[in-house]
Amino acid sequence: MTDTEALKRRAAERAAEWIRDGMTVGLGTGSTVRHLLDVIAERRAAGEWAGIVGVPTSEDTTARARRLGIPLATLDERPRVDLTIDGADEVDPQLRLIKGLGAALLREKIVAAASAELVIVADDTKVVQRLGTRAPLPVEVDPFGAAIQVDFLRGLGAEPVLRERDGAPVVTDGGGRIYDCRFAGGIADPEALERALLMRPGILECGLFLGMATAVVIAGADGVSVRTR
Ligand code: 5RP
Repeated sequence: MTDTEALKRRAAERAAEWIRDGMTVGLGTGSTVRHLLDVIAERRAAGEWAGIVGVPTSEDTTARARRLGIPLATLDERPRVDLTIDGADEVDPQLRLIKGLGAALLREKIVAAASAELVIVADDTKVVQRLGTRAPLPVEVDPFGAAIQVDFLRGLGAEPVLRERDGAPVVTDGGGRIYDCRFAGGIADPEALERALLMRPGILECGLFLGMATAVVIAGADGVSVRTR
């Protein structure tokens, strides 16, 4: 395991301390959450957490959790989620987040909004003073007329790039496309930016998760720290 993967594993182990048997647990997406899924599977194999049910936030997490034998439900079946554990691409001092480099932002935000608690797991490279200085902000758009969003996003100060893989646009689990938006100097006012983005027809969601995280577990070379709101 590389140093970074070892940090992610430690963050996942610490976040797993929030889990209690019988909980409905939102399962985020990404490489850090994969460690969490391993931790859950190991604890279940040891005879613990027989009563937990996971609500996955992506097809990728669904497939991995199934392979590990973790019981799953949809959000329709379990609309009240006790706790979601998810990764992030940036975390600022107010526990505001950028998420979505794994393209699962829409479902992640829906599940987070249905959760009593949102615990974020990350390594310390994700900590920033200002959002948008390290990671681009992913903006998910409907494919219908997606190109017209470029000028709109530029008008908000962004430099948008359509996310592609192997020369074709990345298609999200819900059929959307993603513009990764860089902002010179970072995002000055995340709340105002989120409002402007979400009022725009055709924009489905953005990767700003503001006022949602209840705790952030950060793993670094010096150990694991927990920040709460
Ligand atoms: C996916 C996400 C991920 O949680 C985020 O990209 C962090 O991923 P990783 O743990 O692989 O760094 O938001 O949409």
